[in-house]
Amino acid sequence: ALGRIIVAVDCPSLGEAQPIIAICRGLGVKLKLGMQIHAAEGTPKVIQNVGKDCFNDLKFHDIPNTVAGAVQAVAEHVWMLNIHVLGGFAMMRSARKAVDECMAKHGHRPLVTGVTVLTSISDDERASLRIGQGMSMTELVVHYAMLAQGCGLDGVVASPLEVKAIREVVGKDFIIVTPGIRTETDSVDDQVRVATPEVAMANGADYLVVGRPITQAKDPKQAMLDIAERIAQGLAQRGVEDS
Ligand code: C5P
Repeated sequence: ALGRIIVAVDCPSLGEAQPIIAICRGLGVKLKLGMQIHAAEGTPKVIQNVGKDCFNDLKFHDIPNTVAGAVQAVAEHVWMLNIHVLGGFAMMRSARKAVDECMAKHGHRPLVTGVTVLTSISDDERASLRIGQGMSMTELVVHYAMLAQGCGLDGVVASPLEVKAIREVVGKDFIIVTPGIRTETDSVDDQVRVATPEVAMANGADYLVVGRPITQAKDPKQAMLDIAERIAQGLAQRGVEDS
């Protein structure tokens, strides 16, 4: 179950991230390097230091040509990267094409996931932004997941609250990554659409992105082990064997 955890390393520098990176490496837990550390240190340095097995969380959202170029720049070096579904059909397809080209050239193809609606956005805020009018949050997120699948992405990033509905339409091989993971005693922070690790897994998630509940814990290693136990519970509820 530890391999289902992706720790969000939201740190101001690679130096400060080293202790948490070392614990993750020791336990076989995956790492997610996001906007903060990329902005502080620069993408080539982050990739060089942390290596191929990371989730490059830069949430690309631009015109197709620009996104294709950005994907080409990182694809060879990362395990997973993500783009916004709202970037549109041509943009999603151009990202897929870029990773296929990476496969042909370098023999490595990273997974590409599509961000649906950020887990920090409430249903009220979605309505005020006039996104998906006439739809519920779940309907909207499921719709985005279907579009992402149709454009050849490997999966989506969505909150644990929408996982069940997504899983019903995308089948078992489409990857669902869920941030917004909080246990009963964790502070919710700026997240809104949250659930516990066992609920997210029971609902059909493949990977859980967990940041502050691990990185700010008194004992991050113990926090990872506790979450892994809850993941195993959720998988057992789903009747899925842990790989
Ligand atoms: O600290 P916390 O567990 O809230 O961290 C969640 C991580 O997941 C952050 O790094 C955030 O950027 C990322 N994320 C998210 N919602 C998304 C996509 C990514 O919270 N839809």
